[in-house]
Order: sequence, then structure tokens, then C-alpha cells
Amino acid sequence: MWFNFLVFVMCIFGVQSTVVDLSHRGLKKETFFVNIQQQLNLHEVTDLILKGNQFDSFLDCSTNLDHLKSLDLAENHLQRFFFLCKEEYNLEYLNVSHNHLEYIDDFAFNNRTSKLKLLDLSWNKLSVINETMIEHMKILEYLSIAHNPVDNIHENAFINQQHLVHLDMSNVSASFIPNSLLRPLTKLSFLNISFNPIDTLPFLPALLTELDISGTNILFISEISLPHLSRFHLNHMPNVTKVVLNDFENITMLEVLSFENCKMLTGFRIWPPNSRLLPHLRYLSLKGSALETLDENLRPILQRTAVVDLQNNPWHCDCRMQWINRLNLSNDLSREIRCKTPEEHASKLLSAIPNRELICVEILSSAYLAIWASISIIILALTLAGMYLLWRSPLRQWILPKRGGDTVSYKNVKESSNDLIRILVTDDHTED
Ligand SMILES: *[C@@H]1O[C@H](CO)[C@@H](O)[C@H](O)[C@H]1NC(C)=O
Ligand SMILES: *[C@@H]1O[C@H](CO)[C@@H](O)[C@H](O)[C@H]1NC(C)=O
Ligand SMILES: *[C@@H]1O[C@H](CO)[C@@H](O)[C@H](O)[C@H]1NC(C)=O
Ligand SMILES: *[C@@H]1O[C@H](CO)[C@@H](O)[C@H](O)[C@H]1NC(C)=O
Ligand SMILES: *[C@@H]1O[C@H](CO)[C@@H](O)[C@H](O)[C@H]1NC(C)=O
Ligand SMILES: *[C@@H]1O[C@H](CO)[C@@H](O)[C@H](O)[C@H]1NC(C)=O
Ligand SMILES: *[C@@H]1O[C@H](CO)[C@@H](O)[C@H](O)[C@H]1NC(C)=O
Ligand SMILES: *[C@@H]1O[C@H](CO)[C@@H](O)[C@H](O)[C@H]1NC(C)=O
Repeated sequence: MWFNFLVFVMCIFGVQSTVVDLSHRGLKKETFFVNIQQQLNLHEVTDLILKGNQFDSFLDCSTNLDHLKSLDLAENHLQRFFFLCKEEYNLEYLNVSHNHLEYIDDFAFNNRTSKLKLLDLSWNKLSVINETMIEHMKILEYLSIAHNPVDNIHENAFINQQHLVHLDMSNVSASFIPNSLLRPLTKLSFLNISFNPIDTLPFLPALLTELDISGTNILFISEISLPHLSRFHLNHMPNVTKVVLNDFENITMLEVLSFENCKMLTGFRIWPPNSRLLPHLRYLSLKGSALETLDENLRPILQRTAVVDLQNNPWHCDCRMQWINRLNLSNDLSREIRCKTPEEHASKLLSAIPNRELICVEILSSAYLAIWASISIIILALTLAGMYLLWRSPLRQWILPKRGGDTVSYKNVKESSNDLIRILVTDDHTED
């Protein structure tokens, strides 16, 4: 039969491994269990690849998988799978990613499958990761639950995973990761918690070498001390506006650091100056962010980092950027800086602009001066007016009683004017 071609036996260092590859054959579980299984001696198979078929469930009872170590069921239509017909399985690798799993049945993972080392559950529809789901997998080294609409991860879900080295929890809709979740993972080296709406970092295991927190709402990185961390990804961070590299001073082994596509990132600097920061850094990416200029305190780090990616930022090429051109960096850094403003340098490469043309425009500064002068004058005027009013108001109160006197004298005037009229009248009379 045609599928016999797909069976091959390998002998590596005397360990026999029999691989059956039936991927992307449009197989339904009935075809596999009823027809194909008859033709193959599945009993001998160690690696069974059923990826890209149309299985909607998988039950080991209908087959004999005594020697199976690796089962790839990715990209099927699985709603459930079970391992319940043998006392113990030798399964070490299970990939059920890209399926339709909504929950993990109690008969899927139990103490019979406790030899699993790698489990890929990514791209399913899991909504709960509870404390019993993987409790029996005590030697698990690799786990991915990424891209599931999980809204509930139990804080003790990983309590037995002391051997876990790689954990991918990206895009699991977690808005909070409890500290106790990652605390048992003392051997964890890789952690991806990207694209979760968290705004604080959870407790991080001390042996981490790679961490991805991209696409989270985290604002500041401070007080993290991960002595082994060498790769740190902080891309697509919507809330990060300013980065002070000194906050990374205790991550001394860092080799790769990226802040790509952080659309609000306008400030990137080292303050106070520290030329010994991140001594092992060899890759720094700031591409696609919102930086307009770079501070000269970055000089030492830019000079010794082999790859610095500064593309696609709205660079403003004025006198503040001259130092970069003067550096004559070996890493092509300045060649990647394409100016956005001012108008006369728009879309030019910084390195193609002679330093004498990188000017902080005089007119602009005199305009600032004029604005400042006007503002100062206005403030002065307001102050004087205020002082005048202050000086006047108590004075008014002071003379208020006198005003009564004024009225009196006014009355007097009135009287006198009456007198005057009278006088006039009498005068008139006298004239008559
Ligand atoms: C599992 O299968 C998916 C889909 O084929 C693949 O992308 C992924 O790398 C596999 N996981 C592992 C750990 O090999
Ligand atoms: C964990 O979830 C599974 C289904 O996904 C359920 O059968 C099991 O009872 C749950 N365990 C606990 C302790 O709630
Ligand atoms: C699994 O647990 C059951 C009881 O819960 C026990 O009887 C059985 O021996 C265990 N099997 C293995 C392989 O540990
Ligand atoms: C997150 O997962 C959902 C499916 O659960 C998917 O549609 C979406 O594209 C994923 N987002 C990212 C950033 O990978
Ligand atoms: C973390 O997960 C995201 C989303 O799945 C992915 O794009 C990114 O490459 C992962 N990070 C690493 C370091 O593998
Ligand atoms: C780095 O560690 C030192 C000593 O433990 C501490 O004083 C300092 O505040 C830490 N820096 C940061 C940015 O966390
Ligand atoms: C961070 O950004 C997200 C999405 O842009 C927003 O919903 C959230 O309110 C912001 N949080 C803070 C603290 O600014
Ligand atoms: C810049 O460096 C290159 C080699 O990296 C060298 O050939 C060139 O002369 C230098 N230019 C200046 C102006 O120092």
C-alpha cells in the first residue's frame, strides 16, 4: 500500500526508532484505526506523525502503541483525546497544538502519561488551566499553552513542574499572573508571557535566560535582578514612553535587548551616565518606535554593541545628532538613521548629511526667545497689576469710613449749593 513508503526505520547509536509519517493526508480517525492500522505494525512504532489530518478525537484503546515515544496530532480537529487503556505509557512528546480542545479530560493526562517531557497545547480553545490538569507530569520540560482564550489559571497549576525549562504562556488573556504560579519552576530558563493584558511583572524564576514580555501593559521595569538573563524582549509595549537603561543595571548578562514597535517610546537614555552598563550587550533594537533624538550619554553602549537597529523612528536631525555622525561607528548604526524632520533633511540618511548642516535653527531659538520674553512681560504685568490691587484694596477699606465723611461734605456741598441757589434766587430777587 501507498503509506508503506512513509514508514522508515532508523538506527542511531544502536537505538532503534521507527517513524511513521502520515501527515497531511486528510485522514479521519475511522480510516486510521480501521484501515491503516491493519497494514502497519503500530506496536513497533516510536514516532507517529498524524499532523494536519481530520481526527476529531483520539483514543489509544483502539490501537497498540507500546513503544510510542512521540505523537504529533497537531493541526487536527481534536475535541478530546485519551490515554486510558494501558497501565503506563512511554510517551515523551505530545503535540496537540492547533486543535479544538476546550478542556483537558481527566483521562487525558494522568499518572499513566507521567513520562511526558514535551507538551504543546497551543492554539486551542482552553479556558481553564486548573491545578489538576498537569499535576502528574512531574518531569515535564517543555510546555506551551500559548494562544488559548484562558481566563482562569489556577495559582498552583504548575506546582509539580520543577523540571520545566521552557514555558510559553503568550496570548492567554491573563490580566494578572499570581506570584505563586511561577515560584515552583526553579529550573525555568525560557518564559514567554507576551500579549497578555498584565500591568505588573509576576515573580520571575532566578535561572531565566530568555524573557518575552512584549505586548503587555507594563510601564516600568525596575528592581528586576536576573543574573542569568541574556535575551529580553519588550516589543509592542503600548504604554512605555521612556526607558532609562540604568533600570537594567542588575541584568548584567544581557546580550539581546529589544524595544521594537513601541509606539509611545520617545525617550531612551542612560542617566546618570554609566559607561559600564550592560557589558555583554551585542544586540539592541529600537526599530519602529517614536524616538526623535538620542542622548550623548548612550555613546559608550552604542560603540561597543555589535548590532544596533534604529530604523523607522521619526528622527529629528539637528545639532543634537552631530555626535552620532562623529562617532564613525563600526556597526553601520548611523547609516540606518533616516531623518523625518526638519523638512530639508526629510528622508535623508543621517550619515549623508554633513555635520555643519545639522543645525538647531536660529530662527526657531529666537522665536522661542520672543515667546519667552512675551510670557515674562505678561507675567510681570500681571504681577504688578496684582500688587497694585493688593495695595489698593486695604487702602480702600482704610478710607471707607472717610467716604462717609465725604458724603457728609457732599451734603454740605448740596446744602451750600442750595444756599447758592438761594443766594442766586435772592440775587435774582435783588436784581428784580
Ligand atoms: C507542534 O506543532 C505545531 C504545528 O505544526 C508546530 O508549529 C510546533 O512547533 C510544534 N511544537 C513543538 C514543540 O514541536
Ligand atoms: C480541572 O478541569 C477538568 C476539566 O478541564 C475537570 O475535569 C477537573 O475536575 C478540574 N479539577 C479541579 C480540581 O477542579
Ligand atoms: C496511578 O494511580 C493509581 C491510583 O490513583 C494507582 O493505582 C496506579 O498504580 C498508578 N499508576 C502509576 C503508573 O503510577
Ligand atoms: C491570540 O490568540 C487568538 C486566538 O485565541 C488569535 O486570534 C490572536 O491572533 C492571537 N494574538 C496574537 C498577538 O498572537
Ligand atoms: C513569544 O510569543 C509571541 C507570540 O506568540 C511570539 O511572537 C514571540 O516570538 C515569542 N517570543 C520568543 C522569544 O520566542
Ligand atoms: C541593583 O542592585 C543593587 C544592589 O542590590 C541595588 O542597590 C540597586 O537598587 C539595584 N538596581 C535596580 C535598578 O534595581
Ligand atoms: C496601557 O495601554 C492600554 C492599551 O493601549 C490601555 O488600555 C491602558 O489603560 C494603559 N494603561 C496605563 C496604565 O496607561
Ligand atoms: C571611519 O571608519 C572607517 C573604518 O571603519 C575608516 O575607514 C574611516 O577612515 C573612518 N572615518 C573617519 C572620518 O574617521
